[in-house]
Amino acid sequence: MSDGYYSSKKTDDICEDVCGQGPRAALNMSRLRCIFNGFDLKTSIFILVLIPTCVFGIYLHGQKISYFLRPLWESPPRPFHEIPHYYHENMSMESLCRLHGWGIRESPRRVYDAVLFSNEVDILTIRWNELYPYVTQFVLLESNSTFTGLPKPLIFSGNRDKFKFIEPRLTYGMLGGRFHRGENPFVEEAYQRVALDQLLRIAGIEEDDLLIMSDVDEIPSAHTINLLRWCDDIPPVLHLQLKNYLYSFEFFLDNKSWRASVHRYKSKTKYAHYRQTDILLSDAGWHCSFCFRRISEFIFKMKAYSHYDRVRFSHYLDPKRIQEVICKGADLFDMLPEEYTFKDIIGKLGPIPRSYSGVHLPAFLLNNADSYRYLLPGNCRRESG
Ligand SMILES: *[C@@H]1O[C@H](CO)[C@@H](O)[C@H](O)[C@H]1NC(C)=O
Ligand SMILES: *[C@@H]1O[C@H](CO)[C@@H](O)[C@H](O)[C@H]1NC(C)=O
Ligand SMILES: *[C@@H]1O[C@H](CO)[C@@H](O)[C@H](O)[C@H]1NC(C)=O
Repeated sequence: MSDGYYSSKKTDDICEDVCGQGPRAALNMSRLRCIFNGFDLKTSIFILVLIPTCVFGIYLHGQKISYFLRPLWESPPRPFHEIPHYYHENMSMESLCRLHGWGIRESPRRVYDAVLFSNEVDILTIRWNELYPYVTQFVLLESNSTFTGLPKPLIFSGNRDKFKFIEPRLTYGMLGGRFHRGENPFVEEAYQRVALDQLLRIAGIEEDDLLIMSDVDEIPSAHTINLLRWCDDIPPVLHLQLKNYLYSFEFFLDNKSWRASVHRYKSKTKYAHYRQTDILLSDAGWHCSFCFRRISEFIFKMKAYSHYDRVRFSHYLDPKRIQEVICKGADLFDMLPEEYTFKDIIGKLGPIPRSYSGVHLPAFLLNNADSYRYLLPGNCRRESG
């Protein structure tokens, strides 16, 4: 029999003595005390320790707990209608269009690629080189404010000489920020997207031109855009299913990126980054999140991000920690996977497994591997500057 059991038994005995034999007048008071004695000292200490520990635990991990319980309070969004996507470099455009159930046009549509730029210079270079053969006008808007209302240098403007190759096809716009403190970042984001609509009209977009709406790091593959510009009868709006990567092409997460979309432009088309249709074209490119060369760029992005509330502790911005997180394939914000079923959450717990495949990556990246080594498998170390 354990000491613990013995001593609590002893306490019960003492209690019985007092409670059983005290004079009648004192009985009520001692009975009350007995009730408290019933929770012996150990239990009281246990409770006194347990409650603050729980409160502290919730403070540290509250977000995790609520994410883990998400399947209970949020049902998954309506599934997309995913349409098959065929491609082989040896197929003619006519047979490709036919295989998708579409006709072929006599000449391709004009293509506009429009982005809101923050600080992704390298990814923008890879994107524009990938799409270069098929894009009529590259439209880029940058603001001197981040979505979270922090002042931001005009990084594209400062690096414009690196993009000479698209200069004749570039429509560049600069927007002054509103710098409303404490405002929801989604308001500034919406404001910048409206400005992008105006910039597109300045760039000369017309009815039935193709318009790519996506973040800089959501890169449609060139052959996808070529298919959509050549085929007739494609849906007026479709989302692109992209492969999700984190930090580099070493960490392949899943195939679930869907926000990028392609529109046959109409005068009422509005630039948006949310769900606009049920149609999703399978396997249409890459989404490389937080794919930066320098640790300082990670820190900038973490602060400028629309989910700045995720930086709950200042040590999240510590460069040493960030480097370790990148090399492990772990989460910068120490969050749980954002999934809708327990099965998916549990399946994705822990770091992302490494991928050693460099097959079907953007051609410009592979042709210039020496300059973009950090994006390829086996090169997780970043420059600090
Ligand atoms: C692609 O087409 C060319 C010429 O039409 C042919 O010589 C070549 O063998 C084909 N390659 C594959 C992989 O089918
Ligand atoms: C942002 O740009 C606007 C328009 O050019 C300018 O008036 C404003 O002073 C700039 N603000 C900062 C913080 O750079
Ligand atoms: C993603 O899609 C590819 C085919 O495009 C498939 O081979 C792969 O298994 C998928 N991966 C996941 C994690 O769903």
